[in-house]
Amino acid sequence: MSDTHSIVPPDALPAVHTPPGKDVAVELVGVHKWYGEFHVLKDINLKVRRGERIVICGPSGSGKSTMIRCINRLEEHQQGTIVVDGIELTNDLKRIDEIRREVGMCFQHFNLFPHLTILENLTLAPIWVRKMPKKDADELAMHFLRKVKIPEQATKYPGQLSGGQQQRVAIARALCMKPKIMLFDEPTSALDPEMVKEVLETMVSLAEEGMTMLCVTHEMGFARQVANRVIFMDAGQIIEMNEPEAFFSNPQHERTKLFLSQILH
Ligand SMILES: Nc1ncnc2c1ncn2[C@@H]1O[C@H](COP(=O)(O)OP(=O)(O)O)[C@@H](O)[C@H]1O
Ligand SMILES: [Mg+2]
Repeated sequence: MSDTHSIVPPDALPAVHTPPGKDVAVELVGVHKWYGEFHVLKDINLKVRRGERIVICGPSGSGKSTMIRCINRLEEHQQGTIVVDGIELTNDLKRIDEIRREVGMCFQHFNLFPHLTILENLTLAPIWVRKMPKKDADELAMHFLRKVKIPEQATKYPGQLSGGQQQRVAIARALCMKPKIMLFDEPTSALDPEMVKEVLETMVSLAEEGMTMLCVTHEMGFARQVANRVIFMDAGQIIEMNEPEAFFSNPQHERTKLFLSQILH
């Protein structure tokens, strides 16, 4: 039997005991994607349970961003299926909207509107997308600004904040939409080292509250502390996936070993 397009994860991956149905937050089955001729995702199979925290690492260009961007349809896959919160991603725009409402995203660059105050950045989507009255949106925004520990910055503009503070605003902005799932794409990699900790602490507290999280990051301390599973990607494939302890102490694949030796030293 040919294994190439099998929907079953390769034997090399450990069994993941996922209860069927409602407990699944995100499922990718046999997902392939091309940019023109370039085969960027090759047979990606991944099932994420509700409340699970997944850390994705791997060399630059391995397809990490593409994979998580496919989950909220910022990128389109060409083969296989992606189901998010029970909704399959197709070209149906209504479904894409539904999914985007459930999935928050936080990027390397914070993408805040520079001409709006912090509070206005946070209330924009709740007011215009969720049709929330301004007063309620303000309250909600202040709630999440307190959560990321910068309520005193509410009336400032993004340019007046440090990178770490701006990234926490970006996280608060995503939380204002009450997402069920949060995607992070290297949220700390553009920050000065002294600001990484405050952003990671915000992410840890989100994890402790039970948020389902997929995080592309090379912060391996974070991975050890909060991840249920760590995934290593290379050249468009999931090469290895394991619990953090086993992943770091006993990587199976040569490419994983090489990668870990490079980033841990
Ligand atoms: N819009 C695009 N068009 C063509 N190639 C792209 C595009 N976006 C990314 N790529 C290529 O796809 C590969 C994977 O990119 P990406 O998912 O950003 O990797 P990673 O996040 O792991 O660094 C890279 O070789 C990149 O150059
Ligand atoms: Mg990337």
